[in-house]
Amino acid sequence: MGRLENNVAVVTGGASGIGEATTRRFVAEGGKVLIADMQVDLGNQLANELGDSAAFLETNVADETNVQDAVADAVDRWGRLDTIFNNAGFGGALGPISDISVEEYDMTMDVLLKGVFFGIKHAAPIMIKQGSGSIINTASICGIESGFGPHLYSVAKAAVIALTQTTALELAEHDIRVNAVCPGFTVTALAVGKPGADEDRKDDMRERAAGSQPLQRVGEADDLANMVLFLASDESAWITGQAHVVDGGLMAGKPWRKQPKSFREPNPIKIYRLPD
Ligand SMILES: NC(=O)c1ccc[n+]([C@@H]2O[C@H](COP(=O)([O-])OP(=O)(O)OC[C@H]3O[C@@H](n4cnc5c(N)ncnc54)[C@H](O)[C@@H]3O)[C@@H](O)[C@H]2O)c1
Repeated sequence: MGRLENNVAVVTGGASGIGEATTRRFVAEGGKVLIADMQVDLGNQLANELGDSAAFLETNVADETNVQDAVADAVDRWGRLDTIFNNAGFGGALGPISDISVEEYDMTMDVLLKGVFFGIKHAAPIMIKQGSGSIINTASICGIESGFGPHLYSVAKAAVIALTQTTALELAEHDIRVNAVCPGFTVTALAVGKPGADEDRKDDMRERAAGSQPLQRVGEADDLANMVLFLASDESAWITGQAHVVDGGLMAGKPWRKQPKSFREPNPIKIYRLPD
């Protein structure tokens, strides 16, 4: 028996990267997944490969009706909604603050924040009726500490963490849990800056980023899928309102091997005495 037997999920951004890995994991554990993504070819290809346990719906998470339709499609197909993984994302506006236009601001927030808001908004009434559910939102380490990503991306991810907490408090009354995952550097199309799977660029990222991580490798989409699976399953039944960092130890601080030699060398403690 799988860990998600009869669990029905919507996964936004489910056609690629972390969403794809999560979709595969959910199905392998007995779940059903509605893949909601803009990438029609990749989404259909994945759904066909996974058979009756998955379906694809072309979805733009920045459009409220699209998100509502994705939730309704999952319920029409499989009769319920246990999990929504609000995960679709992109890098958003780049560059200095004075160069960012209002259009770029809106586009960034529409996908990264409004998309999550729409997912929670339309999943909640169904989960409230059921008296159960797990909502998982993809934030980022950029939402916790500055300097890891562009301005608006970081702002949107911080807001996703805040929205996770506020909605967790409201929905806890109905036994619905809301959690965020905060990936560190994870090898996906988004991270290598190119849509689609470019394996050379991914290998290059694996090589370049490994040295800066406490655990000496970069993240893989499966590392995130493992956390999302846990948060979707009953194993996390008493966990809500949290931002779960999955980053190879990056946010804990400087890797041990990069800390000053004097910290790392075994030296007897120097005892200082006050003069008598
Ligand atoms: N890869 C990382 O290092 C990293 C780190 C922190 C957070 N994240 C977050 O993880 C999430 C998944 O990204 P990924 O790294 O797997 O990248 P990815 O590019 O492989 O996957 C993102 C998916 O989201 C879809 N998408 C983008 N905009 C959409 C929209 N408006 N409507 C519907 N679908 C849309 C894309 O088509 C794609 O399939 C994102 O929210 C991203 O911000 C990634």
